[in-house]
Amino acid sequence: MVQEGWSSDRRLTAISRSGLSVPARQAVLDEQIRPEYSVLDYGCGRGEDVRALQRMGCAAVGWDPFYQPNVRLEPAPVVLLTYVLNVIEDPAERRRTLQHAWELAGTVLVVSARLTWEKSKVNGEQFGDGLLTRRKTFQHLYGASELRAYVEEVTGVRAVSASPGIVYTFKNDTARLSYLARRIIADDQWLASSDTTSAITALIDHVERRGRPPRLEEMPLTTAQLLGHLRPAEIHRLVRASADPTKVEDSAKRSTLNTLLFLAVELFNGRGPFTSLPLTVQLDIRAFFSSYKEACQRADRLLLKLRDDTYIRGAMNASSVGKLTPTALYVHRRAMERMPTVLRLYEHCASIAAGRPQAWTLAKLFHRGRTVSWLDYPEFDSDPHPRLLTSYQVDLGTLETSHHSYGNRDNRPLLHRKHEFLHPDDPDTAKYRRLTDAEVRAGLYARPHLIGTENGWESELARCGRALRGHRLIRVSG
Ligand SMILES: C[S@@+](CC[C@H](N)C(=O)[O-])C[C@H]1O[C@@H](n2cnc3c(N)ncnc32)[C@H](O)[C@@H]1O
Repeated sequence: MVQEGWSSDRRLTAISRSGLSVPARQAVLDEQIRPEYSVLDYGCGRGEDVRALQRMGCAAVGWDPFYQPNVRLEPAPVVLLTYVLNVIEDPAERRRTLQHAWELAGTVLVVSARLTWEKSKVNGEQFGDGLLTRRKTFQHLYGASELRAYVEEVTGVRAVSASPGIVYTFKNDTARLSYLARRIIADDQWLASSDTTSAITALIDHVERRGRPPRLEEMPLTTAQLLGHLRPAEIHRLVRASADPTKVEDSAKRSTLNTLLFLAVELFNGRGPFTSLPLTVQLDIRAFFSSYKEACQRADRLLLKLRDDTYIRGAMNASSVGKLTPTALYVHRRAMERMPTVLRLYEHCASIAAGRPQAWTLAKLFHRGRTVSWLDYPEFDSDPHPRLLTSYQVDLGTLETSHHSYGNRDNRPLLHRKHEFLHPDDPDTAKYRRLTDAEVRAGLYARPHLIGTENGWESELARCGRALRGHRLIRVSG
């Protein structure tokens, strides 16, 4: 039975699942869904997300034209539009649906859709701008940046790709910029305080990690209550007396670069007024720059450098982390923060345009053109030569994306010299380097053209009479 006005059987697209959908999970992890905000799941299908969110303590309500048509549609701070647009066969209705969901959103609209890389899973005949399956369900699969561009066009505001196929659109700059800041500048952790002494310890620790004294409004409530009686001059005296000046100076440099990175990403995604920046960023700008104008000018120059091949190549050569090959720089996600700021910006811009996948291990930044791939090696830590599972790539010039899955392939690509992807300070670097040295001594890297895939590597191990036991190389006879 097809609902009146629908040319496909949309109700059949609503599946049962046991936990949160991927987009709802992402919004929870990104703190866009929080217990204090009510959530409207627009086109909620069988209502699994609504029930899961209610169990987590959120005031969630679902509406669906087929499954929950009688629920009163009311605006909510957070509106989810999860895998709805792709099942609507009429482009005009698709647009109206997105517009309506946007009107209902008080703070953020989370739009998700199935992506073109799932094409092999959808069999059907061409129907309008999508496919009609044998069950008479419709699918318009989106390109990751196509979805973001479409949401921007219909809502008229800037959107951010949270992850491939998941786009956030915010009702005001403050909400958008605090989300961007969270992506770029790690949240400040505060040590717990129970009395004035522990509150002062927490304050000093914070100053050493941020590079400047905090304002009362930046502190957790208990710490603020314990330190609230101190005047700013007294706080400064305490900091001067107890904080390690080298740590403070190093952190001030890091915070300056993080602020620049944030402002450059903000320019890429749409700059807002100073007052819409998160308070901590405003205070960082006041502490580390002569003015907001100066900070913006430096950030603009940084964004311009992203277009300069020679500059990017120089930054890659100078990077203290990552493996540089003739085509790209590969960096482990644990080492990303240690890359030069312009390369961090390169990766952030790609992630905002097309979404960074939820699972990834290495980022690959190409020298020529501006393309980023995120590669997933789930066994990176345990396997001495981890196998590639997926790769997701975005070209910043054309905004084209591609996704490849290697799980079912024979002879998968694998990694060598794992230590090169990490920072020298990483706790695992020494262990990985020892293995590489042993492999080089055993002659395993003598034929580099053979060892990039499983079969070639296995045959080289056999030729050299070696096997691996964890991260140890042993001799084998025969
Ligand atoms: C693939 S299901 C997704 C259901 C749910 N959001 C989830 O992720 O489990 C698509 C849903 O969109 C609903 N739908 C179809 N047309 C719609 C429209 N114009 N507005 C809102 N929802 C619609 C369908 O009834 C169906 O339940």
